[in-house]
Amino acid sequence: MSEKELYAVYKGIYVPRDLHPPESLKYYEDFVFREDDILIVTFPKSGTTWMQEIVPLIVSEGDLTPVHTVPNWDRVPWLEEHRAIILNLEQKPSPRIFATHYQYDMMNKSFFKVKPRVIYVMRNPKDVFTSSYHYYGMASYMVNPGTTDEFLEKFLDGKIMFGSWFDHVKGWLNAKDQDHISYIAYEDLILDLKGSISKISQFLGKSLSEEVTEKIAYHCTFKVMKQNKMSNYSLVPVEFMDQKKSEFLRKGIIGDWKNLLTVAQAERFDAAYKDKMRDVKFKFIWD
Ligand code: PPS
Repeated sequence: MSEKELYAVYKGIYVPRDLHPPESLKYYEDFVFREDDILIVTFPKSGTTWMQEIVPLIVSEGDLTPVHTVPNWDRVPWLEEHRAIILNLEQKPSPRIFATHYQYDMMNKSFFKVKPRVIYVMRNPKDVFTSSYHYYGMASYMVNPGTTDEFLEKFLDGKIMFGSWFDHVKGWLNAKDQDHISYIAYEDLILDLKGSISKISQFLGKSLSEEVTEKIAYHCTFKVMKQNKMSNYSLVPVEFMDQKKSEFLRKGIIGDWKNLLTVAQAERFDAAYKDKMRDVKFKFIWD
């Protein structure tokens, strides 16, 4: 099916209609944040599910109950998704943990007023591209990616869900008030999971023992999360996600783009990256 059939255009970007009906988008517009909310912000395929495991475990100080009993989409609901309305988020006790794929300038009035804590996760865009390519091919509510060349042009033009990776990252890196935002890369998590968990827990004002940090790191490894049915999307019916085509927790590595992009495609990507990111001073781990 085409973009027109599967996606809605909201504030100039595509969002999958099935997951984000108009009433959900309206609900988010009116949503009232609390100062002690924790918001995980990502461009899709940058490490959302991973953070939906890590942050609840930091908050619960290593108690596994939340990650063993509640699916990740209800444990850390997306504010723009249809589930947000059903879950009665206003009544949830603090600290509430949410996720969003919104770009910075899409955030609602309450966000800019209340300034809840934000963990912004970013990932090498060539790996985001690769992960997205496989995901678009297995999820029925996404437009089939077509050839890698076709999907590459859509990705670079921001004609995919939640728009342009470049605008997303630049918008959040240029956020006006950054005291309430912690930036972390997917690659940081891969290279030093324990150290990253300590960094996040400090940001959240939680002091965890070495033992608890280690326990959390173990339960957030790719291998362990892949076995956790509350986090591996195996609860989603096959007509929505066909994990025989591609698993949701697919590879979980740095640099898988090398297995998808040709040399010419990687060069095309790098040239577009250089151009679109030319005014960005931030030192990315993948540069
Ligand atoms: S989504 O659809 O936006 O929620 O997707 P998201 O969770 O952001 O991204 C999915 C990719 O994250 C990988 N992942 C992990 N990698 C390493 N370790 C752990 N624990 C982990 N959990 C999720 C997942 O495998 C997807 O990346 P790819 O490259 O496709 O494997």
